[in-house]
Amino acid sequence: MSTTPILVIGATGSAGRRVAAHLRKLGAPVRAASRRGAVPFDWHDRGTWEPVLRGAGRMFLMAPDGIPVDPDFVALAADLGVGHVVLLSSRAIEAMGDQRLLDAEDIVKKSGTAWTILRVDWFDQNFDEGPFRASVLAGELAVPVGDCRQGFVDLDDVGEVAARVLTETGHAGRSYELTGPQALSFHEACAVIEEVSGRPVRFHGGEDAYRAAQAALGRPAEAIERDVAAFAALRALGDTEPLDTVPRLIGRPARSLREYAAAAAAGGCWRRTPGAAATP
Ligand SMILES: NC(=O)c1ccc[n+]([C@@H]2O[C@H](COP(=O)([O-])OP(=O)(O)OC[C@H]3O[C@@H](n4cnc5c(N)ncnc54)[C@H](OP(=O)(O)O)[C@@H]3O)[C@@H](O)[C@H]2O)c1
Repeated sequence: MSTTPILVIGATGSAGRRVAAHLRKLGAPVRAASRRGAVPFDWHDRGTWEPVLRGAGRMFLMAPDGIPVDPDFVALAADLGVGHVVLLSSRAIEAMGDQRLLDAEDIVKKSGTAWTILRVDWFDQNFDEGPFRASVLAGELAVPVGDCRQGFVDLDDVGEVAARVLTETGHAGRSYELTGPQALSFHEACAVIEEVSGRPVRFHGGEDAYRAAQAALGRPAEAIERDVAAFAALRALGDTEPLDTVPRLIGRPARSLREYAAAAAAGGCWRRTPGAAATP
């Protein structure tokens, strides 16, 4: 294993934390960067960019929701000799018109460094760490995707895929779509969460329920309508087909939503009393 550090951007977040943990398990030296990370890094403070990049051999790159990947950061990485960039992206971004992630992919592909893109389906961890957590605690989740089946995937598996890609050869210039082992509708997924957590979780798959839940959070109507259109496009794609990319890359079966949920419930993540209104 090389002794050159592998830079993990967003290393305190749901995805980055798991990438760093799997890299360490493989014996790779990790440079864990974020505003609160071991190495300070802020997308909005260019003074933090060079120190995190200098001397890094490879990089796991993600940008938090709402923040674009800055092309200058990726160009600086290439200038400083970062030899391979693994970008966290998302499934169906063309259909959904996710310009932020489309641009991020484009920037990385044109950077001149080797790249690999991970196009990940819905994270399982949305339900306990991410944007669905408050909704699960409140017992109501609204996402306007109707009964379309989605490829919920465990971030621990994604972290392992990323760590493998960052430490092995043969992945340059490839985009991998990552799903879990089954496709489930949100109704089915919420039923699993309900069963293992002991908390009732009612799912609403229609657009009006989503509009009402988002308006109650104070989001502007324009932003809500953009989401509604993106989710309509996702719905139009129909059921997701589960893929074998994760088991092929990590050499073991991908974890099911039920396995994820049972472990998350056992850790007590849904025991807290609800404090917030429903929000996807
Ligand atoms: N949710 C899904 O189902 C899904 C599916 C596919 C793809 N994605 C994509 O995955 C990404 C989100 O990943 P995640 O869930 O791991 O995110 P997350 O848990 O919200 O973590 C965000 C990370 O970014 C850091 N961060 C926040 N603001 C920052 C700033 N200004 N400068 C530098 N670092 C900053 C945070 O740490 P500090 O606070 O310490 O800075 C944290 O480490 C998004 O791009 C999303 O589009 C999501």
